[in-house]
Amino acid sequence: MLKRSVFMMVCATIAVTFYLAAGESSAQSRSRGGAAFKPVMSLHGLMIEQDRHFENILSILRDASGKDREKRLNHEAMALAEMANINGFHEEAVKYQDYREWAAQLQSQAAELGELGLAGKFKEAKKAARAMNATCTACHDKHDS
Ligand code: HEC
Repeated sequence: MLKRSVFMMVCATIAVTFYLAAGESSAQSRSRGGAAFKPVMSLHGLMIEQDRHFENILSILRDASGKDREKRLNHEAMALAEMANINGFHEEAVKYQDYREWAAQLQSQAAELGELGLAGKFKEAKKAARAMNATCTACHDKHDS
């Protein structure tokens, strides 16, 4: 009898594990044309790109006399939003829910900054950049070891 209940418990544990794994992967399997999206660039490379776009955003915000500031700010912010979007599909994102949430948060913050840029609201955009920086730091504190 005891043996049988241990067996049942093991079966139940295995079933739950598979159930959770299936939930995880379906959360990740946002797909296009039936094929799951897979980033091409390494996570490290993607971060270098995120950093580049973030630095470009800051330098456009600093240079009040720059040409086409609205458009350039919007472009850099949307490129960063896209990088954050891709980050949501990277290996760390598959494993950790908080990672996916921070990536999604950065994506929406960057898109919002892009809108502010297009509208010429540079003061608000500076605030948005600071908020975005806090998201970078939150994820790094836990996942960039
Ligand atoms: C959802 C998580 C997450 C977010 C959000 C995030 N990062 Fe990262 N970042 C990582 C991880 C994980 C690493 C370590 C990966 C590696 O270098 O292999 C990293 C590493 C880096 C590095 C170090 C690369 C090096 O030279 O070692 C830079 C620079 C960087 N991130 C920039 C940024 C910037 C800028 C932002 C915000 C605009 C940001 N990251 C947001 C997860 C994140």
